[in-house]
Amino acid sequence: MRIDVLTILPRLLEGPFNDSILQRAKEKGLCEIHVHDIRSFSTDKHRKVDDYSFGGSAGMVMTIQPILDCINSLKAEREYDEIIYMTPDGEQLKQGRSNQLSLKKNLIIICGHYKGIDHRLRENVVTLEISIGDYVLSGGELAAAVLTDSIIRVLPGVLNNETSALTDSFQDNLLAPPVYTRPAEYNGWVVPEILRSGDFNKIQEWQEKTALERTRKLRPDLLEGEE
Ligand code: ADE
Repeated sequence: MRIDVLTILPRLLEGPFNDSILQRAKEKGLCEIHVHDIRSFSTDKHRKVDDYSFGGSAGMVMTIQPILDCINSLKAEREYDEIIYMTPDGEQLKQGRSNQLSLKKNLIIICGHYKGIDHRLRENVVTLEISIGDYVLSGGELAAAVLTDSIIRVLPGVLNNETSALTDSFQDNLLAPPVYTRPAEYNGWVVPEILRSGDFNKIQEWQEKTALERTRKLRPDLLEGEE
């Protein structure tokens, strides 16, 4: 799959996109991530990308021209499944949405700044608006990195052990069970006996039971309508 990210701060995305799982996924040829500097598409002589808002409310608004030109140049090369705008008033990101987007071929993600992008882009060009939570970030870049990471890690072949994305929290509306590693005892703290028993069925039963208990205690909302 291919993801094109539009931003005025490309450097902010260098870290998240060039390290760890995303870097490995790119190296394995499982995904391509392209970052585009919106400013380089500005036809303004000072390469401006924002302007005062009509109606005089505080804060600058990102203009249509550079964003639309960038999108059109990408669309001239290939078809896009979604044009996503990262915004705190978008649909709140859930695992199901990341899974669904991971099945797409080409995605565009627009990162906003200041007071956001001109609303006409949202009405006429954007096909999906996503928020990563009820708080306001300085720009959409960190949100775009979160969205991209959550999409790429569920692509088949990205994680070494393919089942491990499937056993993540939220994949089945349950929090993940607790995990432990060696040594079996440290500081007097011991790993639950059952996990050391080697009895696969018993271990699985224990994991399912603890996942359900933790979800009931910490995130009962995830179980609503399921029990
Ligand atoms: N841009 C600023 N805040 C955001 C948020 N919470 N989610 C997505 N994009 C954002």
